[in-house]
Amino acid sequence: YKRVTVKSLGEMKLQGEKISMLTAYDYSMAKIVDAANVDVILVGDSASNTMAGHETTLPITLDQMIYHASSVIRAVNRALVVVDLPFGSYQSDPKEALRSAIRIMKESGAHAVKLEGGEEIKESVKRILHAGIPVMGHLGLTPQSIYKFGTYTVRAKAEAEAEKLMRDARLLEKLGCFSIVLEKIPAELTKNVSSKLTIPTIGIGAGGDADGQVLVIHDLLGMTHEFNPRFLRRYMNLYEDMGAAIGRYVADVKAKDFPNEQEQY
Ligand code: KIV
Ligand code: NA
Repeated sequence: YKRVTVKSLGEMKLQGEKISMLTAYDYSMAKIVDAANVDVILVGDSASNTMAGHETTLPITLDQMIYHASSVIRAVNRALVVVDLPFGSYQSDPKEALRSAIRIMKESGAHAVKLEGGEEIKESVKRILHAGIPVMGHLGLTPQSIYKFGTYTVRAKAEAEAEKLMRDARLLEKLGCFSIVLEKIPAELTKNVSSKLTIPTIGIGAGGDADGQVLVIHDLLGMTHEFNPRFLRRYMNLYEDMGAAIGRYVADVKAKDFPNEQEQY
C-alpha cells in the first residue's frame, strides 16, 4: 500500500479520479474500511449520534473525539485520517482552536482536522494551518449549527446563501485548506464550486460533481434504519441482518443447541 496524503488528494482531482471517504470511529470498523481502499477515513463528530446515541453532534467532547481517533489510527495503514474538531473546541478563539487541533494531532496521531464554517472561523483556520496541521473545511449544512438552521433540509438554495458559500469556499482555499466537505446543497452549486476551486470538494447529499463522496459508515451499511434521506444509498441492511443473526443465537441458547459437543472442552 501507498499512503494517501493531502497531496495525493489534489493529484486525484487533477487526474479526474473521484475521492472516496467514509467515517469510522473504532478500531475494528476502521480496519475493514482501510483494507477496502477507502482514500480518506473521517473520524466524524457524527460519533455523537452513531456511537453515543445523542440527537445532535453538539455534546461530543474533545477527549471523546481523541479516544475515537486514536482507536482508528491504530487500525489504518493506507487511508488519510481526518478528525472533526467538536463543537465548542474551536469557536471561541483562535488560540483555543489551535490548542484543540494540536491535542488531536499529538494524542491520536491523526493526519488532519476538519472544522465547520468559513469567514467566521478564518483566524482559527489560519492559526492551525500555520502550525503545519492540514485543515479540511466543511460548508453547507454544518450540523454543529443545527439550532441556528432549525432543520436538516438542503442549504444554499437561496442566492445570498449560495454566494456566501462560494465566497467561503474560495476563502478556505486561499487560506490553504486541502479540501472542503460540501453537505446537502444543490448539485448545481456543488458543480460550480468544484469547477472554480483547485482543491478537491467532497460531497454528501451534494450531487455527482463533487470531487469525492463521503457517507457515514453506519448509514451505508444499513445499521441506521430509521434514517432515510434521499442522498443515502444503502449497500447492506445490517440492521435486519444483524438482528436476525442475533435472534438465531438467542434461539439456539434457549433451545440448548448452542454450544454443541464440538463447541466445548
Ligand atoms: O461527522 C461526520 O460524519 C461528517 C460527515 C457527514 C461529513 O462531518
Ligand atoms: Na462532522
